[in-house]
Amino acid sequence: MKCNKNNDIEIIKLNKTYFDDKKNKVTALKNISLKVKKGSMLALLGPNGAGKSTLINILAGIVNKTSGDVFINGNNFELEERAAKQSIGVVPQELVIDPYFTPKETLEFQAGYYGIKKSNRITMQILRNLKLEDKAEAYVRHLSGGMKRRLMIAKAMVHSPQVLILDEPTAGVDVSLRELLWQNIKDLNKKGVTILITTHYLEEAEALCEDVAIINKGEIVINGNIKKLVKKIDKKILKVYSEKLKNLPSGLKNIGFKKHNSNEISIDYKPSRNSIDELINEVVKYNIKVKDISIKDTTLEDLFKEITR
Ligand SMILES: Nc1ncnc2c1ncn2[C@@H]1O[C@H](COP(=O)(O)OP(=O)(O)OP(=O)(O)O)[C@@H](O)[C@H]1O
Ligand SMILES: [Mg+2]
Repeated sequence: MKCNKNNDIEIIKLNKTYFDDKKNKVTALKNISLKVKKGSMLALLGPNGAGKSTLINILAGIVNKTSGDVFINGNNFELEERAAKQSIGVVPQELVIDPYFTPKETLEFQAGYYGIKKSNRITMQILRNLKLEDKAEAYVRHLSGGMKRRLMIAKAMVHSPQVLILDEPTAGVDVSLRELLWQNIKDLNKKGVTILITTHYLEEAEALCEDVAIINKGEIVINGNIKKLVKKIDKKILKVYSEKLKNLPSGLKNIGFKKHNSNEISIDYKPSRNSIDELINEVVKYNIKVKDISIKDTTLEDLFKEITR
C-alpha cells in the first residue's frame, strides 16, 4: 500500500474493536479513512465516545489497531515504525507526567528517549514557547492543571516532530490560557507543523482550523474545508426587534416567523431562497415598527449538531 507524499497523515480503512470486561465486542472505529495535508490543521470532532481518542492512541502507538493502514509523513506505521514515530508528537487526553520530576527533567528525559544528543536538545526553548520557563525547576506536582497541560504539549515537542496530534489539549483550561495554547499551536502550524487536534470547543476549532473531520459512533460522517461545509447548510436566523407586538400576524406565522416575546420575532431561513429585505418587507407589511435586526450565521456548531443528531 502506497501513500501520497503531500499528506502527512494518511489513514486507510482503519478498524478497531475492543473487548469489554465481559468479553463483549466494542467497535470503536469502523473503516476510517482520513488524509491530513502537509502543513494543514485539522479539527477531529465528535461526541463523547465517538472514537477520537482511540484513533489518536493508535497513531501514538498506545493502542493496537484491528486492521487498516496508517502512514505518517510518508512512513508506514508498521513497516517503517521508527521513522513514523520520529515524525509524530502526540499529546494524549490523559495527563502522563511524573510528579517528582521538574519540567526541565521531564523534557530532558523525553529527549533521551528519542535519542537526541544533549547538544541538540531544545528544552529551554520549548519551555519558553509554552510560558513554562519560570517553572523549569519546580516539581511537576506543584504545577497548576493548565501548566501540566502545557507541559504535556512541551513533551510532545522534544524531537521537533513534523506532525503534532493533540487530544483535547484545552479541556478544563481557563479562557486566557486556552487562547495562549491555541496561539502556540497556530504558531507551530505556521512554521509548517501539520496539526490534528480534538476539542469540544467548536467555536475555537472553527476560528483556528481550516479543515474538519466529524466522527460519530466510530465512523467519519463528514470531512472537508470548514468554511465550505458550513456554507452548504444554507440556514440562517433573522431576528427582528420591534415596538410592542400583541400577536404575531398569521401571515408571518405561515411563512415561518416565531414570536419570542412582545418585542422580538425570528425566522430560520435559507439564504439561497430568501433575502433579508424580502423578509423585512413582509414584516413591515403588517405595520410592525422594526427597531433593529440581527442575523445569526451558520456555524460549525450547527453543522456538528445536524450531523451528530
Ligand atoms: N480500553 C478500552 N476497552 C474497551 N472499550 C474501550 C476502551 N477504550 C475506549 N473504549 C470504547 O471505545 C469507544 C470510543 O472511545 P474513545 O475514548 O475513543 O472516544 P472519544 O471520542 O475520545 O470520547 P471523549 O470525547 O469522551 O474523549 C467508547 O465506546 C469507549 O467506551
Ligand atoms: Mg477522548
